[in-house]
Amino acid sequence: MMNHKIDNLTGEINKLLQNSIPNSSLNTDLENSMRYSLEAGGKRIRPVLLLLTLDMLAKDYKLGYSSALGLEMVHTYSLIHDDLPAMDNDDYRRGKLTNHKVYGEWKAILAGDALLTKAFDIIINDDNLKDDVKVKLIKRLSSASGHLGMVGGQTLDMQSEGEGSSVDLNTLEHIHHAKTGALLKFAVMAAVDIAEPETNVAGLLESYSEHLGLMFQIKDDLLDIYGDEAKLGKATGSDIENDKSTYVSLLGQNGAEEKLKSHTESAYACLARLPEQYDTSNLKFIIELFNNRES
Ligand code: IPE
Ligand code: IPE
Ligand code: MG
Ligand code: MG
Ligand code: MG
Repeated sequence: MMNHKIDNLTGEINKLLQNSIPNSSLNTDLENSMRYSLEAGGKRIRPVLLLLTLDMLAKDYKLGYSSALGLEMVHTYSLIHDDLPAMDNDDYRRGKLTNHKVYGEWKAILAGDALLTKAFDIIINDDNLKDDVKVKLIKRLSSASGHLGMVGGQTLDMQSEGEGSSVDLNTLEHIHHAKTGALLKFAVMAAVDIAEPETNVAGLLESYSEHLGLMFQIKDDLLDIYGDEAKLGKATGSDIENDKSTYVSLLGQNGAEEKLKSHTESAYACLARLPEQYDTSNLKFIIELFNNRES
């Protein structure tokens, strides 16, 4: 799928990420470990979604740069830790060996810690945003990342793995909302914090982002079984190996695809209810991308 706007924004994000981690005077190679995962070439779908939402809200998308970089850093840290032997124990990520395979476990843990912290540092040092907006963004990113968001979801995910620990669909939906949905919701709602549209617009965008979050992880669960490793840049079969509860393990392939379809329709319905002044074409494209992605 091609979309010039998305390709251009992805290029901008990649360039900004390349310059985001300067060497420190401490003379460690921690920064190399941070850059290794950050520059390994993820899809950058979260930062792109943030910038596209700002653009739709008729705000200069460059005001979203610091939140977009911070978000990609938190996401990248979550992947480094997710791949550790103590968690999913995976060897490949973004088409390369996982961070701990190259730098060792302790440095992978610390690179993750440092990326998480750097995210907040970048937002706080953004001179183009007003202080009250920065406070809102930091508040939102900390709760999306922490025990009420991504980390909480990862905890539930780990607790529900292993034979005999499978969870019901409600719990699984809750896990997906937290471990994956929270950061995707941040992408959309950070744009809302910056652009400050009317309340009904904020509410519709929030629901849109919640459906996107579930779509994204349901597709991830499907790709873990039916996807192509070369395209994904990570090994398939990890969920089965770890006895994870997933949409596919609970509902089967057809059931998972049905759920994907129903969240796709709900996401479209949210956009359709936005006031006419908004050009929703790019946010619609994101729905299609989430629906059809192979990587
Ligand atoms: C993978 O996210 C982890 C999940 C939340 C499912 P992505 O599929 O966005 O990974 P990258 O950033 O493109 O590597
Ligand atoms: C991870 O979910 C979500 C995170 C918060 C990192 P998965 O464990 O399914 O992600 P992949 O499949 O390893 O990318
Ligand atoms: Mg995991
Ligand atoms: Mg994993
Ligand atoms: Mg997965």
